[in-house]
Amino acid sequence: MDEKLKTFYELYDRRRSVREFLDKPVGLDVLSRLLMTINRAQSAANRQPWHFIVVEKKDREELNQTLTKEGFRNAPVIIAACADPKEAWIRKTDKVNYAWVDVTIAVTEMIGAATAEGLGTCWIASLDAERVKEILGVPAHIEIVGLIALGWPAAELAKENKARKPLGEIIHYGKW
Ligand SMILES: Cc1cc2nc3c(=O)[nH]c(=O)nc-3n(C[C@H](O)[C@H](O)[C@H](O)COP(=O)(O)O)c2cc1C
Repeated sequence: MDEKLKTFYELYDRRRSVREFLDKPVGLDVLSRLLMTINRAQSAANRQPWHFIVVEKKDREELNQTLTKEGFRNAPVIIAACADPKEAWIRKTDKVNYAWVDVTIAVTEMIGAATAEGLGTCWIASLDAERVKEILGVPAHIEIVGLIALGWPAAELAKENKARKPLGEIIHYGKW
């Protein structure tokens, strides 16, 4: 396999959820590159129905209190990923709103880039969304899709990936 291609696939293999972080800041240059990947992400009908709130550790006294895992509180950066359902594309046939899909795609792009930078990330969905909105001053109609903890991993990443369902169980060819 071509070396560049190999590097690309290895990136997916390398990513792990990281829940313990070093007390070391994420530089502005790195953070800017990551935020550009969010801005570059695809979205249904290019609606970009998203907002992202970057919250540094020094500004997180209240937000940290809402986090259930101690390790997340030490993350130098937490990004609140927010969906704006009013801005999103809606599928005509069944009225499905694509806001959360689009936000998740943008976050995934950012996580890929963060992994390439050597950073660790973790999605945090287990949260009190109303409380988070209150603390961060988020308008009522906006939804918190998740918080993303971001920082330098405190320990070596687990060698093995967490178990996944066998491919044969989830991939269907031609028909379910
Ligand atoms: C949408 C989403 C929400 C998640 N929420 C949490 C969470 O609240 N707390 C947590 O510790 N991990 C959370 N995770 C991390 C998952 O537990 C993790 O991705 C999964 O166990 C697979 O492990 P890996 O990411 O290391 O491959 C979340 C992941 C996703 C994609």
